[in-house]
Amino acid sequence: MFKEHNYVAWGDICSCGSEVYVLQNKYHPWEDVDFKIKIKCRNCGKSLEVDKSKAENFYNRKILSYFKDVEGTVIDLGCGSGFLSEYLLENNNVKKIYAIDNDIESKKFIDELNLANRLNCANELNCRDISNCEDKSDFDSRLDWKNKSNLSDRCNFADKLHLRDKSNNKDKITFLHMDICDLGKCFENKKVDYIVSRDVFMFVDDTERYFQDVNKVVSKGVRQMGWYIGENKRMRNKLTPEEIKEKLINRDWKVYLEDLDWYKSGYFIRADKMQ
Ligand SMILES: C[S@@+](CC[C@H](N)C(=O)[O-])C[C@H]1O[C@@H](n2cnc3c(N)ncnc32)[C@H](O)[C@@H]1O
Ligand SMILES: [Zn+2]
Repeated sequence: MFKEHNYVAWGDICSCGSEVYVLQNKYHPWEDVDFKIKIKCRNCGKSLEVDKSKAENFYNRKILSYFKDVEGTVIDLGCGSGFLSEYLLENNNVKKIYAIDNDIESKKFIDELNLANRLNCANELNCRDISNCEDKSDFDSRLDWKNKSNLSDRCNFADKLHLRDKSNNKDKITFLHMDICDLGKCFENKKVDYIVSRDVFMFVDDTERYFQDVNKVVSKGVRQMGWYIGENKRMRNKLTPEEIKEKLINRDWKVYLEDLDWYKSGYFIRADKMQ
């Protein structure tokens, strides 16, 4: 039975490589607080002082570590400001990301990520190919890109540099302004390798349709982190983590469910399609 709780991890990684953290219910690592705590590493005995900035970094990295084993084409469902998408962009095994949200505000975050990624690719390529540069003036003007304050100028500039990008990596990420309920309509069968989400499933109204669509569209895996708080008014469905697991098992997914003691009422589901 899933156990709701109010605890989040507050910690850091010790220089010996161990995770060092306490579970506490006073402060969230994303809050702006002065809270600091000394924690002793159980492995090497070193004492670590953990302030908000370290705790936030630790907490974020802990979340993201659950999303590292994805590849190919990936949907970031309910991408918000791109917390997962930013991480996926760094993963070379991920070739294409569709960042989906029904809130148009998310578009600007994803556009910024896309731009930064295009510039990174262009920079890498230019650094690698500097001696083969066909047009030196393009390369010189690259140094100027940060002065281009306007997003569309910067996009145009990135595009220009990308004419030489043989990796064809332009637009590794695409924002789709759409509702979760249209997943099955917007993607062809097995078009996507993985679907990832964090704190989104509780906003799904029609869960039967959702599982049907995921089953249709996704060929390899689901990585889903979320919380379950039965009394919370924001929950649009009341499926418990165990029930979500059952829904996937019934559709031939092999499912691992982990209750997260370090993430307020949190759970993680890793489901892989049985071939
Ligand atoms: C709590 S935020 C999580 C954002 C992001 N996944 C993260 O890890 O930071 C939930 C997101 O789901 C989006 N969302 C909620 N209901 C949705 C729906 N029906 N269709 C598409 N997106 C939805 C919201 O707009 C919001 O950006
Ligand atoms: Zn240590």
